Amino acid sequence: MSCVERHGLSGAGKTTLARALELQLHQQGKHVYVLDGDNVRHGLNRDLGFSSADREENIRRVAEVARLMVDAGLIVIVAFISPFRAQRESARALFDSGDFVEVFVDAPFSACEARDTKGLYAKARQGLVKDFTGLDSPYEPPVSPELHLRTDLLSINECLQKTLERMGVS
Ligand code: ADX
Repeated sequence: MSCVERHGLSGAGKTTLARALELQLHQQGKHVYVLDGDNVRHGLNRDLGFSSADREENIRRVAEVARLMVDAGLIVIVAFISPFRAQRESARALFDSGDFVEVFVDAPFSACEARDTKGLYAKARQGLVKDFTGLDSPYEPPVSPELHLRTDLLSINECLQKTLERMGVS
């Protein structure tokens, strides 16, 4: 079983791709679950904000939950900004080698801002949202992820096929 960790800026397409992958794997009869910032931050991690310390704790808890789910036999798709390289490496260390697939869901800041699906970029520009990733909070791109997807250049289906190939389940 495996953990597919998707990270990248807000609006880069992490949740969209996670849901497309979930559907595809579900149709193949596989047991799969998606953890993402939007569901986990409303429950388990509702005490956490967006300071660096809180983001680290967010990812630490999520990685531990994903590991328990993998132990239970699930494929877990984890879709978070997860901006810090060291934190992503700590998450990877919880899994057997080959079980952790790091996917960099990459679109330039300008493309994510142009999409602004949740209106957060506009609010961050007005100073209404603080510690916003890519603006006044850092994002450390990965050095050697298992997969690097440019969502401004590839279609959702192309990204999905590349992920399935990388997982060896296409
Ligand atoms: S992480 O950095 O701790 O990994 P996480 O993925 O859980 O972040 O949450 C990101 C989501 O929270 C974004 O998709 C966005 O909808 C929302 N959000 C709210 N405030 C911020 C902020 N300051 N920076 C980034 N995302 C934010």
